[in-house]
Amino acid sequence: MPLTHRIRSRPAPLRGAAPALLLLALPGCEPRTTASDFARAGGSFPDGWPFPPGAPPVTARGGIVATTDEYATRVGLDILAAGGNAVDAAIATGLALAVVNPEAGNLGGGGFMMVRLGDGSVHALDHREKAPLAATRDMYLDGEGDLTDKSVLGHLAAGVPGTVAGLWEAHRRFGTMDWAALVEPAIRLAGGFEVTTRLVSTLEAARDRILLFPAGARIFLPGGEVPAIGDTFVQPDLAAVLERLRDQGPDDFYRGETAGLIAAEMARGGGIITLEDLDRYEAVWRTPVAFGYRGHTAYSMPPPSSGGVTMAMIAGMLERRDLAALGWNTPETIHLMAESFRRAYADRNEYLADPDFVDLPVEELTSGAYAAVRAATISPDRATPSGEVRPGLGEFLDESHTTHYAVVDAAGNAVAVTTSLNLWYGNKVVVDGAGFFLNNTMDDFSAKPGTPNQFGLVQGEWNAVAPGKRMLSAMSPTIVEDADGALFLVTGTPGGATIITTVLQTIMNVVDHGMNVVQAVHAPRVHHQHLPDRILFEYGGLPKAAARALEAMGHTVEQRDPGPPDAYFTGGMSGDVQLIMVMPDGSLEGWSDPRRGGMALGFRE
Ligand code: DON
Repeated sequence: MPLTHRIRSRPAPLRGAAPALLLLALPGCEPRTTASDFARAGGSFPDGWPFPPGAPPVTARGGIVATTDEYATRVGLDILAAGGNAVDAAIATGLALAVVNPEAGNLGGGGFMMVRLGDGSVHALDHREKAPLAATRDMYLDGEGDLTDKSVLGHLAAGVPGTVAGLWEAHRRFGTMDWAALVEPAIRLAGGFEVTTRLVSTLEAARDRILLFPAGARIFLPGGEVPAIGDTFVQPDLAAVLERLRDQGPDDFYRGETAGLIAAEMARGGGIITLEDLDRYEAVWRTPVAFGYRGHTAYSMPPPSSGGVTMAMIAGMLERRDLAALGWNTPETIHLMAESFRRAYADRNEYLADPDFVDLPVEELTSGAYAAVRAATISPDRATPSGEVRPGLGEFLDESHTTHYAVVDAAGNAVAVTTSLNLWYGNKVVVDGAGFFLNNTMDDFSAKPGTPNQFGLVQGEWNAVAPGKRMLSAMSPTIVEDADGALFLVTGTPGGATIITTVLQTIMNVVDHGMNVVQAVHAPRVHHQHLPDRILFEYGGLPKAAARALEAMGHTVEQRDPGPPDAYFTGGMSGDVQLIMVMPDGSLEGWSDPRRGGMALGFRE
């Protein structure tokens, strides 16, 4: 379907010459005053909020890489230093994440990549998993018609993986370095890296379920135990897969030895992905969704991601209100956000799905006229119960099981990728002999339409399982241009159903509230997804008075559970945002969300 896709005049590239000198800008190094409109206007975060508004951002002119993992960020930076462009760096970063961040980085999952080249063209690459050809609509129901856990755990939960095809296709179209050079850093890391707190904490969380399947247990929980921080973690099977990927490209994964290992694992565990499924998998270029927001233009993923369309709907409603005047984190602003979120998610859950299977009303949903009609039903001071917007029930979970990374290079090329196994360590099944986990993204379908999935999303018939179909996603890698059509923001996050509201809030923090990159990432977030009917806020993120004022308007307001006090990652939080901003002088500022310990690094000439 035709989506708005504007190409406008472009600024000159930031820099033409190959990078010469590598400088690492660790968060906290090179303090720099970051006066922002938010701070100048006296804005502040709630008392006790753990992430300060005044930390200095990472700055650079030669490029920034922001990921959730230090190893992966350094790999991306090395590629920029070797003369690669942002797409090259993103590919190498993605492959590194598959090694060092195996709970979410992946070969056995899928994702979406947004690319904006220095010439201003914008591209959206869909490498989402697909349902196997033998999939059926009711495959996750038992004899009584009740949902089983098979869409979440074990072999049947896996969709046909798309990551390898996606990274290869991005390289074929936009890469400048040799493919082999982009795979090499991941091979080195698979040869051994020092175990991180992230690996330990996520393995501890998933331990019991990983132990159900022997191939993964052997590699990731030797002797049934989580490896210790500081151990060297070696993945020889994965290294061999990566070596074949280096030498044979995706042919090995989809048609060669690795394909054989995947099919054998499926046969062994009662899964249904076949050699034919693998052979037929293709990544697809799609027309980005473009939407305006207060003079800016945001580009994000179209279906089968719901991200772009849902953000466009929300932005269309919110643009009619002066949120800057109402103020950040005030009950008035949060009320309008929640009401817009509620309405947009109601439509998302009903009307979005794989566009190759269903004729979607995207133009209608994203039109100004529709936004006006929907916005007109929002009372300025009363919550509309979700039952009056659309009926349903549900509970939802949010933990940051996916991962997002962002790269901007010196020529102004920008890449945003969100990739996932769905839950941490996906379906918990490692392909024996290949050393990587498979996804459990089949759960993103409406396994039983009208019944909540693990994110509490109550989705409809259009997103029901069908052979070869892609399951609806919330993943929303997003690139924003300023009012002059120049590159401005590159962002994205994990977080299941909350991805869409988190990405949009990050953009609104900058556009409406004048925050810099640090503040926009650090600021506490709220979420509403129509059902369950509640505003969820981060632990400590909303002053009590604001929560009470929202309740007085008729909202149910709920604080996230902080989790155990000794958890390494800050509990009660939502999202893991990576954000890069182009400053008026052409320099870059970047920041990586501290909620999950990420790292942005700059590259300077
Ligand atoms: O595509 C989606 O919307 C989900 N599979 C994303 C999962 C995710 O972000 C996990 N973290 N909560």
